[in-house]
Amino acid sequence: MNATYKIDPQRTKSAMKIVVIGGSGLIGTKLVNKLRQLGHEVVAASPASGVNTITGEGLAEALAGAQVVVDVANSPSFEDKAVLEFFETSGRNLLAAEAAAGVGHHIALSVVGTDRLLASGYFRAKMAQENLIKASKIPYTILRSTQFFEFVSAIAQSATNGQTVRLSSALVQPVVSDDVAAAVADIAVGEPLNGTVELAGPEPIRLDELVRRFLSANRDARQVTTDVRALYFGTELNDQSLTPGDNARIGPTRFEDWLSRSIPQRQANQAGSTPRSSGAPDRR
Ligand SMILES: NC(=O)c1ccc[n+]([C@@H]2O[C@H](COP(=O)([O-])OP(=O)(O)OC[C@H]3O[C@@H](n4cnc5c(N)ncnc54)[C@H](OP(=O)(O)O)[C@@H]3O)[C@@H](O)[C@H]2O)c1
Repeated sequence: MNATYKIDPQRTKSAMKIVVIGGSGLIGTKLVNKLRQLGHEVVAASPASGVNTITGEGLAEALAGAQVVVDVANSPSFEDKAVLEFFETSGRNLLAAEAAAGVGHHIALSVVGTDRLLASGYFRAKMAQENLIKASKIPYTILRSTQFFEFVSAIAQSATNGQTVRLSSALVQPVVSDDVAAAVADIAVGEPLNGTVELAGPEPIRLDELVRRFLSANRDARQVTTDVRALYFGTELNDQSLTPGDNARIGPTRFEDWLSRSIPQRQANQAGSTPRSSGAPDRR
């Protein structure tokens, strides 16, 4: 079993009601489990369970009596206009409902480098989400994470044309979703920082090389072509774009360890049904 980001039990407050918006997603599912294991009352909220931050359905009921709300929802569409509308509308509705319910800590999961990547519609939307949080009166913590290992499949898919995957060689420092969920859980049970913290994996690696290793381990015949001008979700990259600053928290799981562990699991899943957390490319 791999080491994962450790939660300090000393920092865990007595049992709280914690609402996880996006509680059925990749991070949300893991986060809900971790917080329940710590003894908290956790509501896994998402449209599938009747809580919708866009329409407002079920929001007031889910938030009644909650001390903490964690937003790990994501837009169903990454198209520029749709994703901006999603994070703006969802953020406004959620923060208003939290103010009405007297929530004392709002936590959101964003992306390292968001402010450096505003040529991308997705990152403009994440910036809008962060700005709404900072402008609200609710105490908050924003965790900016690097790319999840599980997202590498979607990065490859987004850069694929035929059998060619055209990618920048910019440095990245991805992190496994288990370590992200553990870091979010640790923040959720702590005091609000009214600030932003960063999380990354243990090793910097070039994006083209990362995807090459992923495809090769999966016996995927697509070939990665390096192109420094290749767009990453609409924006060019350099070595600083997606990499964290000096004070980032570091999730310990190595990409190679995750690959060797996850490939037999992925093959087994493909033989049966495909679970939500598979990083299936069609979700991005
Ligand atoms: N992918 C990365 O590498 C990366 C890196 C850094 C940060 N992040 C951030 O991490 C967050 C979580 O990503 P993820 O990959 O865990 O997401 P995900 O697996 O795609 O899950 C998205 C979640 O959002 C929910 N959702 C969608 N529309 C909603 C609505 N109207 N109201 C309430 N919930 C809604 C979904 O609910 P249903 O299941 O009911 O549809 C699902 O639970 C995102 O905000 C993303 O920006 C991602």
